[in-house]
Amino acid sequence: MTRITVTVDGVSYTDEVAPRTLLVQYLRETLGKTGTVIGCDTSNCGACTVHLDGRSVKSCNVLAVQADGHEVTTIEGLADGDGLHPMQQAFHDAHALQCGFCTPGMIMQAVDLIKVNAEPSESQIRQGLEGNLCRCTGYHNIVKAVAAAAKAMSGKGGE
Ligand code: FES
Ligand code: FES
Repeated sequence: MTRITVTVDGVSYTDEVAPRTLLVQYLRETLGKTGTVIGCDTSNCGACTVHLDGRSVKSCNVLAVQADGHEVTTIEGLADGDGLHPMQQAFHDAHALQCGFCTPGMIMQAVDLIKVNAEPSESQIRQGLEGNLCRCTGYHNIVKAVAAAAKAMSGKGGE
């Protein structure tokens, strides 16, 4: 077992983990952060996306020990207090989800996309989200939501 200290959603945690523990397993099983979900076993669905030091990563593709000393933000830490993050609000307003399974990862990826490109075109949004799969929506409303959130967030920074 290896001792790690990770800040997750603003709180510091120190735990013993097996070296092969995935970050997504640590978040869900040790910390109870079940808002981050597992949608595949091939690292291609993006449902598990979180931010590691502010950049999006697929947490099924990162070992928990690699997060030692770093900062993780999950969908559960994205909102500021009781209000929704502008990206969450935009997904709600644009009906950008159906079953919702892809939504946490989609939103985390979209927030990272807006950080890098505050005014993305439709094709840049589609390209930025291509690592996140959605079985339900056909993506159209997701793209609309990200564009609307980019507008709402412009001038205010990001997360
Ligand atoms: S669960 Fe991580 S990419 Fe699918
Ligand atoms: S809303 Fe169901 S997978 Fe995206």
